[in-house]
This record gives sequence, structure tokens and C-alpha cells, in this order.
Amino acid sequence: MLEVNHLQAGYGNLNVLWDVSLNVRQGEFVALIGSNGAGKTTTLRAISGVISPAAGEVRFMNQMITGMAPHRISQQGLSYITEELNLFEGMTVQDNLLLGAYTRRNGRQVRASLEQVFDLFPILKERSAQMAGTLSGGERRMLAIGRGLMSEPDLLMVDEPSLGLAPKMVMNVFQALRALHERGVTLLLVEQNVHNTLQIADKAYVMEQGTVALQGSSAGLLDNEYLKETYLGKR
Ligand SMILES: Nc1ncnc2c1ncn2[C@@H]1O[C@H](COP(=O)(O)OP(=O)(O)OP(=O)(O)O)[C@@H](O)[C@H]1O
Ligand SMILES: [Mg+2]
Repeated sequence: MLEVNHLQAGYGNLNVLWDVSLNVRQGEFVALIGSNGAGKTTTLRAISGVISPAAGEVRFMNQMITGMAPHRISQQGLSYITEELNLFEGMTVQDNLLLGAYTRRNGRQVRASLEQVFDLFPILKERSAQMAGTLSGGERRMLAIGRGLMSEPDLLMVDEPSLGLAPKMVMNVFQALRALHERGVTLLLVEQNVHNTLQIADKAYVMEQGTVALQGSSAGLLDNEYLKETYLGKR
């Protein structure tokens, strides 16, 4: 579904990604892990069109999307939930969700999607009339994921959904991601929480200094000595 080949990208004169290749199959749950500054967010930005790659290519659903504008890429069915969330704080939870469906014309289907999101995150239904700016950190992350789902994406890319959350909320977010995967949503997840991530992802890529240093099935990586020492804190 998503194929990234030899991607190079950065900011101005600063090159950050040197040679990033990865692929995500339909229905797969893929994780991108690695230490701070490794280039995980930059990879998602380059895939989603937020920054233009300097070299390499990105294919999505058999179409070349390298360098395409972000709104056009999202119209192709690729939804990107950034770390910053970009919620409309002065609007209600429900209106934020509906904005995620702004390109969809069929009102009945949009309402069905809304019910699905409420099903997945019951707290959002409870808070549907509340201003987004007044939600807790965990609720805001769920709202951002819910809004990303409202466009009925083929692929959902999520950057660090567990960042800054208390352990119980982290578990809620991971449960929601697992539920999404079970419903057939294809996921590319960036996470620092390596252990939890490898419990639910099918496979993972480990980034270091702008390249993919290691890749494999989650089960294999959980057993990998280097990964255990470096990221899982086990010796
Ligand atoms: N807008 C920017 N302008 C200049 N440099 C940037 C910008 N955003 C990121 N960088 C640099 O690019 C490198 C990779 O950053 P990136 O955000 O992709 O890392 P990351 O793997 O997502 O890290 P983290 O786990 O801390 O979120 C870092 O050295 C960072 O300082
Ligand atoms: Mg990041």
C-alpha cells in the first residue's frame, strides 16, 4: 500500500533523512521506532507532503505521491496525525470530528463514521458538545485520532500518540490502536514506547541517524539483543 524508496529529506540546507526505505502492506500494522532526533517525524512529514523529499520516492496505492501537496495526499486516502494534533480548540469535539470528514459528501456515511469513532472512543461521545480546548491530554489525542478516521483513510499515520500521557491513558491509546487494526485499518505508527508498540505491531523499522538501522517482525525484534539493550532496557 505504501512504498518508500531511498528517501532523502531535511530542512533547508540540513539533511536529516539519508536513505529511508520502508513498506506497509494493506491491513498491516507497522511501527517506526528509534531514539530522539533519529528522523521518525521527518519521515512522516516527507511521506505526507509536509516537506518535499530531496531524493527518493513515495508510492501510495500504486501511485507516485512524491512531492505532492499535503491536501492532495490526504485526499488519496492517507491520513497523518501529527504530534501537535492541530485541533480547533474553540470548537466542540463533534465539530472537530466533522471537520475530519469535510471532503466527504454522503451525510449518512459521515454519520456512520461518527458513530464508529464514538464506539471506539466512548469518552468522545460523552464530551461531544465540549470545546476541544478543554479536553485532557489523553482525550485530545483520541480526538485527533478520531478526526483522522473521519476521512475513512486507507492508511493512518500517527506520530507518538502516547507522548506525555499517564500509564493508564497510554494503555487506552494502545488498546484503541489495536482495535483499529482489528477493524482492518492499515497503520504506520511512530512511538517511543518500544515495548508496548512491539506488542501490537506486525513489524517495525528502527531508525538511527536518518537511516533504517534494523527491521523485522515485532516478535523477532522483541528478541533482538541489540534492541533489548538499546531500547528495551534489558540486559
Ligand atoms: N523544522 C525543523 N527545522 C530544522 N531541523 C529540524 C526541524 N524538525 C526537525 N529537525 C531536526 O531533524 C532531526 C530529526 O528530527 P525528527 O523530529 O524527525 O526526529 P524524531 O525521530 O521524530 O525525534 P523525537 O523522537 O524526538 O520526536 C533532529 O535533529 C531535529 O533537530
Ligand atoms: Mg518526532
